[in-house]
Amino acid sequence: MEKYDVLIIGAGIAGLYAAMQLPADKKVLVVCKDIPWECNTFYAQGGMTTALNEEDVPLHVSDTMAAGAYHNNKEAVEIMSQTSLKTTADIIAKGMAFDKDGAGHLLYTKEAAHSVERIIHAGGDATGRYMHYFMMVQNRHQLQKNTLVYDLLIENGRCYGVKATVNYEPTTIYADDVIIASGGVGSLYAYNTNSRTVSADIHGICVEKGIELADMEFMQFHPTVFVETPYARKLLLTEALRGEGAHVVDESGRRFLFDYDERGELASRDIVSRGIFKHQRKTGMKVYLDFSMFEEAWFEQRFPNITRTFGTLGYHFPQDRVPISPAFHYANGGIKCDTNGSIPGMEGLYVIGEAAGTGVHGANRLASNSLLEGVVFAKRAVDHLLSKGHQEVKTPTFEKDYGNILHKENDKIYKQQLRQVMWDDIGIIRTTKGLHEAKNLIYDMKNHEIGRLLQLRLNTASAIVEAALSRTESLGSHYMETEQNKD
Ligand code: SIN
Repeated sequence: MEKYDVLIIGAGIAGLYAAMQLPADKKVLVVCKDIPWECNTFYAQGGMTTALNEEDVPLHVSDTMAAGAYHNNKEAVEIMSQTSLKTTADIIAKGMAFDKDGAGHLLYTKEAAHSVERIIHAGGDATGRYMHYFMMVQNRHQLQKNTLVYDLLIENGRCYGVKATVNYEPTTIYADDVIIASGGVGSLYAYNTNSRTVSADIHGICVEKGIELADMEFMQFHPTVFVETPYARKLLLTEALRGEGAHVVDESGRRFLFDYDERGELASRDIVSRGIFKHQRKTGMKVYLDFSMFEEAWFEQRFPNITRTFGTLGYHFPQDRVPISPAFHYANGGIKCDTNGSIPGMEGLYVIGEAAGTGVHGANRLASNSLLEGVVFAKRAVDHLLSKGHQEVKTPTFEKDYGNILHKENDKIYKQQLRQVMWDDIGIIRTTKGLHEAKNLIYDMKNHEIGRLLQLRLNTASAIVEAALSRTESLGSHYMETEQNKD
């Protein structure tokens, strides 16, 4: 029986930074579902927040809390902000090249709901891709692709490993400690900015095993996404564009977001997304991101990837404006854990990154706090894991295997239905009636002949709809429309 000291599920920023913290003499396996760069980190554009210095910590904490509608776990926010000083320095010292000015000083940008410019970036608008590449190069441990986890081996409050298909072959992987770094739930939604690999499987396993998910009603929708492509992952237009001065306008060129919040384009993401959604619904007009205030050479140098990607679609900046829509972007909630990534009542199982529900984001994540959360809490989980010392673990046998029933014939049809109902009824604007309809549809799908992976998606979808139904008042990204607030 092959057994690892540590198994990490996911090769995004949290998983790779956790691997970087584990000593070379530990037997570590990092697994990812597809190729390693099919993860949300790779597609992150804007940057990584870092407190500028000790004095900025309280301001970063208060910006994060305000964006999160004060639903955040304040201790987690303080840890994140305070630790950012050390973590950012560590990453830079190890060789990560963030963008600098001619004099060699780090360049900071601003995104919505930040009081000051405190976001560092790389490759202009390719921060995630640069950080991911950097961490892939730094990783000394074994990384195995094409590994789809479909079960956690749990008995009597302890995790012993996972069952997974490795290159389509059902396989059991044992480990003393398992770190979940599998990301969020993007593929549940018809319109999303996420990698296609991010499909809520591990959340669904947790639901099945009675492991609690927290704050699942708080799903974040990014306001500026180009959705007019046939691919599942829609194209993000980073918030840094608005941070640098881009405008959101309707067909008549009006900056209507000031009707919804005095900060206009720089209000927090939930407010901007709702403003766009409501304006479109009310006027029937298309909404655009307008770059006409920028100088061409500057724009191309600051946003090279957006220039290139949209160039291939026929858009030329700054003169062309791009039609935009909000789309699902990030799960603010996740698998409930403490600030060390430990899951209550569970031995040998940690969760970090977007999959984790530390409460750090509250009801709505502040822009660019996600890459930071990934590194800060990955390090804390590994520190905690290493502090336990070696424990002799006797592994039980796990007979039950779903490896040959991962998919069933009609799964694709149900999956599309689910994605549509999540978008329509558990999306930016919710109603009690819509949530009940969604709940019934999800329940109904569960009673059909379906494969294991769809079952897991449905488990997570149920957790989201239940959480949304139990919060009757609007808060942050969870917005309940009633006759009183309808406009
Ligand atoms: C963006 O670049 O707008 C996304 C950053 C984030 O999700 O925090």
